[in-house]
Amino acid sequence: MTVSAPTFDLVVAANRLPVDRVVDDEGTSTWRRSPGGLVTAMEPVMQGREAAWVGWAGETSENGQDLEPFTVDGIFLRPVGLSPKELEEYYEGFSNDTLWPIYHDVIVQATFHRDWWNTYRMVNQRFAEAIAEVAAPGGTVWIHDYQLQLCPAMLRAIRPDVRIGWFNHIPFPPVELFAQLPWRRALVEGLLGADFLGFQRTADAGNFLRVCRRLLGMATKADTVTFTPPGDDTTARRTVRASAIPISVDFRGIDALSRTPEVLARAAEIRASLGDPKVLMLGVDRLDYTKGIRHRLKAYEELLQDKMIAPPEVTLMQVATPSRERVDAYRQLREEIEGTVGRINGEYSAIGSPAVYYLYHSYPRNEMAAMFLAADVMLVTPLRDGMNLVAKEYVTCRHDLGGALVLSEFAGAWHELHQAFICNPHDIEGVKQTILRAINTPVDERQRRMKALRKRVATHDVQRWASRYLEALASAPFRPHRPTRASDMERRGAERANRANQRRSDNASEEVGD
Ligand code: ADP
Ligand code: F6P
Repeated sequence: MTVSAPTFDLVVAANRLPVDRVVDDEGTSTWRRSPGGLVTAMEPVMQGREAAWVGWAGETSENGQDLEPFTVDGIFLRPVGLSPKELEEYYEGFSNDTLWPIYHDVIVQATFHRDWWNTYRMVNQRFAEAIAEVAAPGGTVWIHDYQLQLCPAMLRAIRPDVRIGWFNHIPFPPVELFAQLPWRRALVEGLLGADFLGFQRTADAGNFLRVCRRLLGMATKADTVTFTPPGDDTTARRTVRASAIPISVDFRGIDALSRTPEVLARAAEIRASLGDPKVLMLGVDRLDYTKGIRHRLKAYEELLQDKMIAPPEVTLMQVATPSRERVDAYRQLREEIEGTVGRINGEYSAIGSPAVYYLYHSYPRNEMAAMFLAADVMLVTPLRDGMNLVAKEYVTCRHDLGGALVLSEFAGAWHELHQAFICNPHDIEGVKQTILRAINTPVDERQRRMKALRKRVATHDVQRWASRYLEALASAPFRPHRPTRASDMERRGAERANRANQRRSDNASEEVGD
C-alpha cells in the first residue's frame, strides 16, 4: 500500500533544499545550511508558513533515488535525488556550464552538449512530478531559478489546477546571447507554463519579453506575452506576465543580529586580531568568475604598487565560499585567485602584517555579521550579478553608520543602492580611484550615504519582496491593485482566453482520468 504524501497550499521548488546532507568518513550524516543567496532569501520568508520545499539534498545517490521527506523548522522538505551522472549533466553541465555563462554575459565560454540537455529535461520532469505530489488542489507553487526553467510547463501538464510562479535569481540575457542556445524555444515554452515570471531587474524582464517577441514571434504587450501553448489548438491562448520584483534581505533579523553584544564583541576581536588596521577592506563572495574577484585583486595590487596604500594600515580580507568545485572554470578560477593572493602577499606583506587575508570557508551567520561590522570598506565588484545580497547584508549590519560600500554597476543591487561608491569593475583605474574615494571621503558624508542605503534596504526587505511576489502571482496576468481602463480591457480579454483554456484542460484531465 502506498501512503500518499501530505499536501500543501504553498510549495517552493528550487534546485537545492535549504539544507545539504553531509556524510562524514564514519558515515554519520548531518544537515548543513545550503550555500548561496536563494536560501538566504527564502529562509526568513518560509518561517512560520505551512509549506513544502522541493529540492536536491546536496549529495548524490547511486540511482538518483529520493531520500524520505523530512521536516526542518516546520517546513516539509521533499528531496529530489540526483545520480552522479545527473549531477554532472544537469547541475554542473547544463545549469552551470551552459546556462550560467550565457546568463552572465559569457564571461567564460558556454559549453553545449545534447546529453546535458536531455538530462536537464529529465531532472526537470522529476521535479515537476515531486511538486505535483505535494501541492494541494488549487495550491500555489513557487519555482526558483535557471536550473528549473522547464518545470513550469511540465507541472502545468500534470496539475493544471495549481497557480505557478517562477523567479529568476540571476540575470536574464539579452536576445543576442540567449539566441545561442540550441534549446531556446523549449526553454521559453517551459517558462511560459507559469502564470507569473519574476525577475531581478526591469532589464531582465525586458530581455525575456524581447526573446518571446523577436526570437519566437509571440505577441507582447507592456509586461505580458500572449501565445498558444505547443500542442494546443490555435484558439487556446494564454497570457503570462513577466515583471521585475528585486529580491532583498531580512533587514530586521540581520539588523538585530548585528546589534547583539556577541557580534559587536566579535567584530572588535576580528579587528584586534588583524592588528587594528586603519582601514580594513573586505570581500565576501562565492568563488565564482562572475564576482569580479580577479579585477578587485588587480586594483588592490596596483594600489599597493603605487604606494597609495600599505599594510598594516590598510589590509584586505577576502572570504571565498567554495562553489561548484568540479566545474573546470571554477577550478581554474580558484588556482588563479590563490596564485594572485600568494604573489601579492609575497611582494607586499611583512611578518605579522599580510596584505591579503584569504579565507576559503563557509561561516555561520553571526560570524558574517561580525565581519561586516568590522570592515571599513566593503568591496562588491561583480562583472554581472542578479542582485548580490552581500551588498544589502553589509548595509543592514551597519547600524553604527560606519563603513563604506564600493559597488559595481553590474550588480542588480546597483539599481537600488545609488548612494554606494559606484564603479565599473572592468575599469581597473576607476576601481582604484573609487576605493581611494571610499577611504578618504569625510566621515559625515560616508554616514549620510550609509543612512540612505539603510533606509532603502529597511523599506524594501525580503518580506516585502515575498509578499509582492505572491500578490503578483495571485493576480497574474494582471497587475495587483492598479487597474486602468486599458488594463481592464486587456484583463477581460485575457481572462476569457484563460477560462476557455482551463475548461479545455479540465475536460482533457477528465478524459484521461479513471
Ligand atoms: P550568490 O547567490 O551568487 O552566492 P549573493 O551575494 O546574492 O550571491 O548571496 C550570497 C549569500 O551567501 C549571502 O547571504 C552571503 O552572506 C552568504 N555567504 C557568502 N559567503 C559566505 C561564506 N563564506 N560563509 C557563509 N555565508 C556566505
Ligand atoms: O543565485 C544563483 C544560484 O545558483 C542559486 O540558485 C544558489 O543559491 C546560488 O547561486 C549558489 O549556487 P549553487 O547552488 O550552485 O551552489
